[in-house]
Amino acid sequence: MEKVMDYSSSNLTNSCVNNAFVQTIYNGNGFSTQLKLSETDLETFRTMIRMQWLYRLQLLAPKEINQFDKIGIERYHELSHLIDHAKAWPKTSRVLPKEAVAIVRKMDFFNQLEMEFGDILIADEERLGWENVYWRLVRPGNADFGSFHTENWFVQLGYYGTEINDLTREKVKIWISIHSTPGKNGLMIVPNSHHRTDWKWHVEERNGQKKNRLLTKM
Ligand SMILES: [Fe+2]
Repeated sequence: MEKVMDYSSSNLTNSCVNNAFVQTIYNGNGFSTQLKLSETDLETFRTMIRMQWLYRLQLLAPKEINQFDKIGIERYHELSHLIDHAKAWPKTSRVLPKEAVAIVRKMDFFNQLEMEFGDILIADEERLGWENVYWRLVRPGNADFGSFHTENWFVQLGYYGTEINDLTREKVKIWISIHSTPGKNGLMIVPNSHHRTDWKWHVEERNGQKKNRLLTKM
């Protein structure tokens, strides 16, 4: 089954460092799965992503668009050979439009986050002029995912926009599983990786982009 992940990077005000939820993350495994989307909000995400996904395909493959429409994003991998998948989905094509941010900000999970953290700024990673909520499209049996990494490595490579370098803010990353099969796919996290300082990595160029690669054996 196709897996689509959506995530956004949020910068949190420094005052939240003493917040119990943040402490659970920092002093615990480095992550929390406490929050989840309501069914309604998940459906809203799925609709917004489907609209952007289908519109992109409409431009890239108008003759095949009916097939993509019928099969849907969950089974996209069955038709991805009809387009140049590697070139079809640069990150800017997966950042939801500005209007979507207002919708996401009204969702229950986001309100809960704001109750925990106060002021939340979603990073404009691609410098588009609005907060970037974006999704990923990963086909089963393909290398559509990144290798093991820490977010800090990407920051060191200059990714994630300017907000991420604001030292007065705490940073967290939010991953939401949009279409996935429990136990078969989804995001993999290394517990306590936020405390690791012994991992060695280097930079590789892939699809014209700088990517980090872990050299230390896991
Ligand atoms: Fe990551």
